[in-house]
Amino acid sequence: MKLLITGGAGFIGSNFIHYWLEHHPEDQIVNLDVLTYAGNPANLADVANNPNYTFVKGDIRDAEIANKLVKAADIVVHFAAESHNDRAVLDPGIFVETNINGTFKLLEAARQNNKRFHHISTDEVFGHLPLDEGTFTEETPYAPRSAYSASKAASDHLVRAFNITYGLPVTITNCSNNYGPYQHPEKFISRMITNLIDGENIKIYGDGKYVRDWLHVQDHCRAIDLVLTSGKIGETYLVGGMTEDINNLTVAHFILQLMNLKEDRIEFVKDRLGHDRRYAVDWTKINKDLGWEPEHSFSKWLKETVEWYKNNESWWRPLKDEAEATYKKTGQ
Ligand code: NAD
Ligand code: DAU
Repeated sequence: MKLLITGGAGFIGSNFIHYWLEHHPEDQIVNLDVLTYAGNPANLADVANNPNYTFVKGDIRDAEIANKLVKAADIVVHFAAESHNDRAVLDPGIFVETNINGTFKLLEAARQNNKRFHHISTDEVFGHLPLDEGTFTEETPYAPRSAYSASKAASDHLVRAFNITYGLPVTITNCSNNYGPYQHPEKFISRMITNLIDGENIKIYGDGKYVRDWLHVQDHCRAIDLVLTSGKIGETYLVGGMTEDINNLTVAHFILQLMNLKEDRIEFVKDRLGHDRRYAVDWTKINKDLGWEPEHSFSKWLKETVEWYKNNESWWRPLKDEAEATYKKTGQ
């Protein structure tokens, strides 16, 4: 099988390419990525010479390149996006451009060539939940609250519309917050660990009582594999983690413990505008239909993630200034 991966030089896409080449060594992968600040060829340096892997630098909004690559593939797995909420506060336009227009261009290419299309989306399209009450399911109405989540919601609607209108064979996964190796140091867990290594503080937005449903990127890759190989066309599957409502402050305390540091390294900063209070994903459907469940505990994966950042400073060091430049502008 030949897979066209978009955004494969980013965090989840590069983990997925590693995962796929290991678990499906007979398959061929083409990675289309324009290499924004979030796209990093170093994530894939170890597979660059693998004969089953090809990198193409290009934009998903370029219809010509999208059409050529989609035509040559059996399936499109679409990760490419602008993905960071703090950046969406500062510059929402590029989120509309990439996440909506870019997905549309790829869908058009898939439609012209009648190719299977898997769309990677987020639980944020459902908005947010009150503390200690409720979960997102596949039936939860869409209610996005940021330019990022609104643009992802629009892209989900386009994917479904192409299925209904043109019979395009699509599937969608909406997952919760990923963490693990190769995550840009702009995101919460990777920012905390790299700040602490640098002798800086952990920055906690607002009161810190915001809840995320932490999903290790390896568990996410396994879920996508199951949907690609056994998922039902036209269906959406939610993917979430194992954590029982752990708030940001508690995650910060775990990390301080793992790094043998004290609580005085926690600093409260200005809150994010429009900050979503809580995400919690009910992953019963993918569990019942495809047998997926997260494999490892948050504490085990978190420890491994801390170790990975400690051992891979040369990977994240060149990205750190770029990450902190955003926070200079937001005052966080
Ligand atoms: P990321 O920001 O790390 O990587 C995005 C990648 O897309 C980069 O390699 C970038 O260069 C590429 N890209 C951006 N614009 C492009 C364009 N116009 N053409 C080609 N490539 C382009 O993102 P991520 O965290 O790996 O997220 C991947 C996908 O998963 C996104 O669709 C995101 O919405 C979704 N998602 C992420 C999370 C998470 O916790 N990180 C959770 C739920 C869903
Ligand atoms: O739910 C899935 C989403 O998870 C994905 O769709 C997004 O692409 C991904 O970026 C992530 O969005 P969040 O906004 O939840 O992730 P982030 O890592 O930016 O923040 C996680 C929580 O931590 C959130 O409540 C904000 C808070 N935070 C974040 C940073 C960077 C802090 O308190 N301090 C920080 O320094």
